Amino acid sequence: MQSGDPIALGVDIGGTFIKSALVNSRDGTLASDVLKVDTPANAPPLSLIHCVAELLRRFQWGGAVGIGFPGVVDRSIVRTAVHLRSDWIGINIIELCRQLRCSTCQVVNDADAAGIAEMTFGAGKQRQAGKGDVILLVTLGTGIGSALFVSGQLVPNTEFGHIYTEDGVEAEALAAASLRERSNMSWEEWGGRVSQYLRLVRRIAQPDLIILGGGVIENWNRFAMYLPSEVRVVPAVLGNHAGLIGAACRAIISA
Ligand code: BGC
Repeated sequence: MQSGDPIALGVDIGGTFIKSALVNSRDGTLASDVLKVDTPANAPPLSLIHCVAELLRRFQWGGAVGIGFPGVVDRSIVRTAVHLRSDWIGINIIELCRQLRCSTCQVVNDADAAGIAEMTFGAGKQRQAGKGDVILLVTLGTGIGSALFVSGQLVPNTEFGHIYTEDGVEAEALAAASLRERSNMSWEEWGGRVSQYLRLVRRIAQPDLIILGGGVIENWNRFAMYLPSEVRVVPAVLGNHAGLIGAACRAIISA
């Protein structure tokens, strides 16, 4: 348990919105409303950081900030950003975040952030201490993100959304939630695709538990029956806020 101020601003940079809220890192509750701005289409890195700065301004916040970023962040360097501009690649995002003038800033992959939150306060909480437990959180949204935990420890930057089927279809093109919305796909068809995807995942990893997250989980009852029975799959419980909660917690732990 941390002894200092437990509040940090969590920011989740998504393909559609940038969401942000103050979070109490002791219990994972939100300490403010969630404010969001549109993720500007095709914006250069600095413009996107200016959007985050605008959120900080609205919260009048200068304390710890944790950001969930939709790509691989190796320490502070962005290595992939599939749904953002390619000029993110190679950028030192922590350097860029100096613009925010906050007390401290941590940036983690958005799915890893959601995983941290679900493991600490949500669907993975009971399994935290389990020695040898392998837990995989999969976020189904604009893309597919993943967070892998072994004995409660995060293995950062796994990218299970970019594995391929035998027919050469990338997982995101098979089962992202955005795909269902865009093409008005039935829940049955999409559920079948998610099922196919989870079987694909099981060819390369053997999680004891898979937690499915992302806003689409609100509709769990519409597609859960199509998921494979041989894998233990449960819905995330922190909903769409898991990413910003986990990012905020990471900022406090590292402060
Ligand atoms: C990115 C991941 C990210 C996921 C969800 C994928 O396209 O490669 O890093 O976690 O989208 O935003």
